[in-house]
This record gives sequence, structure tokens and C-alpha cells, in this order.
Amino acid sequence: MDLHLELHGNRVRAGLETALRDAVQTGRLAPGTRLPSSRALAADLGIARNSVAEAYGQLVAEGWLTAEQGSGTRVAAAAAPAPAPAATQSPPAVGRVRYNLRPGSPDLSAFPRSWWLSAARKALSAAPSQALGYGDPRGRPELRTVLSGYLARARGVRASPDRIVVCTGFTQGLALLCQVLPGTGVTRIAVEDYGQPGPFRTLAAAGLAPAMLSVDDRGAVLDQAPDAEAMLLTPAHQFPLGAVLSPQRRADAARWAAGTGGLIIEDDYDGEFRYDRQPVGALQALAPDHVVYVGTVSKTLAPGLRLGWLVLPARLVGAVTDAKAMADGQTSSLEQLTLAEFIASGAYDRHVRRERLDYRRRRDRLIDALAGHVPDVRLTGIAAGLHAVAELPAGRSERQVVARAAARGVAIEGLGEYALRGHTRGPALVIGYASPPGHAYTAALARLTAAIQDQ
Ligand SMILES: Cc1ncc(COP(=O)(O)O)c(C=O)c1O
Repeated sequence: MDLHLELHGNRVRAGLETALRDAVQTGRLAPGTRLPSSRALAADLGIARNSVAEAYGQLVAEGWLTAEQGSGTRVAAAAAPAPAPAATQSPPAVGRVRYNLRPGSPDLSAFPRSWWLSAARKALSAAPSQALGYGDPRGRPELRTVLSGYLARARGVRASPDRIVVCTGFTQGLALLCQVLPGTGVTRIAVEDYGQPGPFRTLAAAGLAPAMLSVDDRGAVLDQAPDAEAMLLTPAHQFPLGAVLSPQRRADAARWAAGTGGLIIEDDYDGEFRYDRQPVGALQALAPDHVVYVGTVSKTLAPGLRLGWLVLPARLVGAVTDAKAMADGQTSSLEQLTLAEFIASGAYDRHVRRERLDYRRRRDRLIDALAGHVPDVRLTGIAAGLHAVAELPAGRSERQVVARAAARGVAIEGLGEYALRGHTRGPALVIGYASPPGHAYTAALARLTAAIQDQ
């Protein structure tokens, strides 16, 4: 093993003792760590073996190290330093979460492990060695080519491979755009309110002034920010309220962008999941030179994969590629090649279709459970996606219901979490119905309805 030690002073043995003692005391060498043999360490440090043996002997005598026949010299178990005080206070403990109904996650227990493994095996066997080196910051050509076909077929996106930049999800895609947009004259960007606070903070941190668009049952009200040069929209399924942007507004948005040179960022985070009709195609197809389409596997597969993509107007490709190169060089080649194989083999489509069926059933069961147990709750935003909004009767306290659900082991969010300008709508819950594993869903719904009933 390699052991980094800095020896100071002329007295070699004393210097080695001090360096080892420091390393143990500060916790740099954890209890149980096996030290190199005295011969190996002496050779590494260019000192006499005796000096190392004596230094080890001294530290064993002091109790910092232990030496046992056959197991060598190790850092003593009792030598662990006291834990440093936490830098930030940890959040107060709430009841143990047994059922997660927060929005944002697919059913992770349904991750198609064996399909993913066989795609990974096949991709790695076929990959040339050069694929393991530094590559094009836009991503592997195999994945960009496959994505171009998939996005055109499944989401109606007009995406040539050279306009695609693979990234680690929507979060990184937006961060890259935030670096580039100020240089293209964007100072003000319209965002939907209600919306995710994370992207809102990312935009603000980049110095882009947010202009708020309220949301109604036809999606974002687009004409509320006439002086914005860009818009961030979730047209296929507004997050969190769930409306689908109406055909009229989609056309208006495309016309606005083409007419003013404005830019639309289309966050298509769960567009594959539409239940009662065909998924609406991407807005990007109406104005490919004015829309950045952002996709992710976070809802279709798993957020932990950290894989997503930007489909860019030609004029932004160079700058976004540079930003990606500066951010992290490129997204992991092996994950990209695996995803390319996964899509090309048809496994992605099969998985999405299977999950779409499952989530549709769950949504229907949620509708039935609320109608049966708490009929005065109105469920909205149910046409698509992995979450719905349950509007509570006027006068009910969102926080109280959230707390009562937590006491029953159910994690749930109030709509107020997504109010960027203050909560002006009635009390409501945002229910992510995809996340509990299938076997836990019945119990999750029972506890949720009980928490809502609890006055
Ligand atoms: C509105 C919205 N966009 C995008 C994402 C996905 O982000 P990422 O691809 O970084 O996981 C989420 C995840 O919860 C989301 O709620």
C-alpha cells in the first residue's frame, strides 16, 4: 500500500514517529488500517529499516498502533479521533418515512436491472479502447445518433445528432445554459409559478432575472412577461400543477420565439407518461431554431443514473459544448454507451411502456381511493406524469395534513413548497404516486387518505 508521510527535521526516526502520530490523531489513517511492512516503508522513504521498526515499536507502546503476529502493524481501534462537530445542523428528526409519496421519483424498485446489465455488458464488449479516453464533450456519437432517432420517433423532436449535447440530467443542462445565455443577450427569463424552486435558484444565481408566469388549466399564461428574452416551460406536464400546455399556447409560444428571437427552454422531464391520450409531442418541433429541448432518464429509468440531453438550436451548440467541457469534460462514456445500447435494443421502449401501464393503474387507484374516502378532495393534473395535485377543502391546513401523514410514516408535500411568489392557491398536496414499490402502494394510499380524513 502507498502511505503518504512528510518527514521533517534531521532526526529521521523522530520525524517518522511524529508524522505517523499526526496521521492517526487527525483520523487520516482510520482505525484498523494496515500499515506497510517496515521493509516496504523504509524503501519508499529511503531510510533505514531499523528506523521504521523503532518508530512502529514506539507508537505501539503509546497505543496508537497494534502489532500482531501474522496481521502486521495496524492503526489501533481506540485511536479514532473524536468526531468533529457537524458543520450544519441536521434537520430535526421526523417520523420514519415508510411510504414516499413526494413527487419526483419513479418506482426505483422497478429499475430494469437485468436489461440494463445486459446492455452494459454488450456496450462494454463492443466499445473500442478509445471510447474509454477523453472524448467529445457533446457525448458519444453512438448515443447522440440513437437519441436523435428515439426523440424524433417518440417525442416528435427534430434532433440531428450534431445538435445534441449529452449531460448529467436537466439540472446540469440548465446550469450549462445559464453560463451561455447571458452572452447571447438574455437578461430576463420567464418561469412558471408554481414551479420547482431548484431551477429558479439556478437562474437567479446566474444573474438571470426571473419574470413570473402564472399557470392555469391550459398551462403557463405566456403573455405575462413581455420583456423576457427567454422562457423556461414544462409544456407536456406543468410541474407541479399538471396542466398540459394548450395547442393554442404552444403555437403562441413558438410564434413569440420566432418573432422576437426569444429562446424557449423546454423541460420535458416526464413527457413519456401520458395516460388518456397519445403523449403530446415536444414543443421544440414547432420552432427548432428557438427551442432548447431538455430530456432526462430521471423519470423513465432512475435519477441516480444522472443522464440527460440537450437538443440545441445550431447557434448555441458551440458555446454549450464549451461550457460542458469546462464543467466536467464529458458525461461517463460507459453510461452513455450502455444507454445507447439500451435504447437501440428496444429495452427503453419496453420499459417505458410497462411503467406507463403501471403508473396509469396507480393513478386510477389514487383517484378511486380519494373518491371513496375523502370525496371532498379534488384531484387535478392527472392526465400525465408521475404526480397529481389533491386540492383540499378550503380551510384545511396543508401543513397539518403533511404533518399527520408524516406521523403515519408517509412523506408528502404541500403545494406551498412550489409557490415561488408565495402560496396564493387553496390548500393542496402534490402526490407522487410512482415512487412507492408496488407492494407498498395499497398501504401508502390507506395511510394517506387516513391522514387527510384526520381533522
Ligand atoms: C420539473 C422537473 N424538471 C426536471 C427534473 C429532472 O431533473 P434531473 O434530470 O436533473 O434529474 C425534475 C425532477 O424532479 C423536475 O421536477
